[in-house]
Amino acid sequence: MKVRKLTVDDLNDIMTLQTLVYEDLQNKMILETIDEPEFTEMIEQGFIIGVFEEEDLKAIRAMYIPPIDDPEHLAEDGGIKDREEVIYSEISFIHPDCRGQGLQTKLGRQLVERVQADGRFKHILTTVLPTNIPSLKDKFRLGFKIVNTRIMYGGKYRHVMQLNLNEPLEAAGEKKTVDYKNIEWMLDHGKDYIGFDFDGENIDYYLK
Ligand SMILES: CC(C)(COP(=O)(O)OP(=O)(O)OC[C@H]1O[C@@H](n2cnc3c(N)ncnc32)[C@H](O)[C@@H]1OP(=O)(O)O)[C@@H](O)C(=O)NCCC(=O)NCCS
Repeated sequence: MKVRKLTVDDLNDIMTLQTLVYEDLQNKMILETIDEPEFTEMIEQGFIIGVFEEEDLKAIRAMYIPPIDDPEHLAEDGGIKDREEVIYSEISFIHPDCRGQGLQTKLGRQLVERVQADGRFKHILTTVLPTNIPSLKDKFRLGFKIVNTRIMYGGKYRHVMQLNLNEPLEAAGEKKTVDYKNIEWMLDHGKDYIGFDFDGENIDYYLK
């Protein structure tokens, strides 16, 4: 398997793989698909990498520099004032035949290194469907913390997760261990706590 940066020449393969992954999903809520113009923009921004087996694209992962005036910008969730310091961890998908090797996180580590080397950004933000266990594990393993849980994208539950590249997020207040499926608690209290760890069942929250 070979990992490399993706270019416009890979666009058709990216769209084909995304369709294959989406159609294979039992729960379509898991993946917010991305259209061709958006992938083109991410390719131009340069934070999109893919895994190839021979010449076949098997997995992709991308970060995205959001427009500063995006009405759904995630900076507020993390109390970040300067939106220019923010990049999003946007999308990953892996061919069903290539799962089970932690590829999402391996690609994530490479992209975080690229973002760090770029030097323009201090925070990586992302949203995660609370029941998407592999994605939740992936984000915690990369060092992301849950800074808020809310309803977005016209009615879907999402954690907002944040990775600070310079100073790690800290919260030393009262600890609360919450079942990862207890969305009600998270919607009510998530703003006041930071979710620090996930053991596959429970998330450890600390008061900000
Ligand atoms: C999410 C995705 C990229 C992860 O693929 P992957 O890197 O191969 O993940 P793995 O299969 O190695 O699993 C990672 C961990 O999640 C766990 N996991 C995977 N599927 C699971 C499930 N359905 N339920 C519970 N745990 C699960 C694995 O056991 C593993 O845990 P471990 O490392 O503690 O043993 C892949 O499943 C995918 O393409 N899904 C569809 C698209 C998607 O959801 N993208 C993310 C949102 S943009």
